[in-house]
Amino acid sequence: MERVTNVPESFAQSADRDQVNNYDSFAEAYSAENENSLANAYYERPAMLALARDVAGRRILDAGCGSGPLSAALRDRGAVVTGIDSSAAMLALARRRLGDDADLQVVDLSDPLPFADGAFDDVVASLVLHYLEDWGPTLAELRRVLRPGGRLIASVDHPFVAYTFQDPRPDYFATTSYTFDWRLNGQSTPMRLWRKPLHAMTDAFTTAGFRLAIVSEPQPDPAARELFPDGFHNLSSNPTFLFFVLEVPLSDAGLG
Ligand SMILES: C[S@@+](CC[C@H](N)C(=O)[O-])C[C@H]1O[C@@H](n2cnc3c(N)ncnc32)[C@H](O)[C@@H]1O
Repeated sequence: MERVTNVPESFAQSADRDQVNNYDSFAEAYSAENENSLANAYYERPAMLALARDVAGRRILDAGCGSGPLSAALRDRGAVVTGIDSSAAMLALARRRLGDDADLQVVDLSDPLPFADGAFDDVVASLVLHYLEDWGPTLAELRRVLRPGGRLIASVDHPFVAYTFQDPRPDYFATTSYTFDWRLNGQSTPMRLWRKPLHAMTDAFTTAGFRLAIVSEPQPDPAARELFPDGFHNLSSNPTFLFFVLEVPLSDAGLG
């Protein structure tokens, strides 16, 4: 996988601007990459599972579930999982993985969620929030569908790393988008993600009514040391993603 940065001009002029972040167009390639990659299989997913701990019997919403690798791992551990994603092609792959009975729905996280208040014990959101400029409405909805005491477990591009993606560097304290062509299997897909400073992330969580329980910068799975020696060394000293565990207070008296 290759991220080619510094493409804002060609990106802005591209006739395919509607194709931005179009996971439908590279769902198979992305899913295959995600399956066994250092970043996903040996770093992001194990970290999310470790933060989730014992999930047996918990009702979990996998927000931005993609082709469902985390949903599958949570289900294997006894959770009852619902997956949502804006990409129908990614969800088709999730259905292939999880079976016809799986609860999978095409939902854009910018829209109201089709679930009752307090429907879930946990929400997991792996590598999806950074597609959104304004986290406020989405976080408010995720909090609404969590029961009191429930958790949002989220991973995002690390704000310090995302900050260095573009040169000349923009103001760290500004919320800015950055663009790149994501090249996978010879195919190039224009992507636009949003970076915000760390305090803007934590402010968004607390404004939505979450209590910050854990901020985590985990190490990759040691099993990856031999499989990806160079990448492992690099990832061990340069965190790529940042992880949060947010809790819904048991009562509003816990806010503040
Ligand atoms: C980097 S992939 C991560 C997939 C999955 N969470 C995983 O870790 O394997 C990002 C996913 O977020 C989805 N996504 C992006 N923007 C979204 C939005 N606004 N609403 C719902 N899903 C979105 C994409 O379709 C894609 O499946």
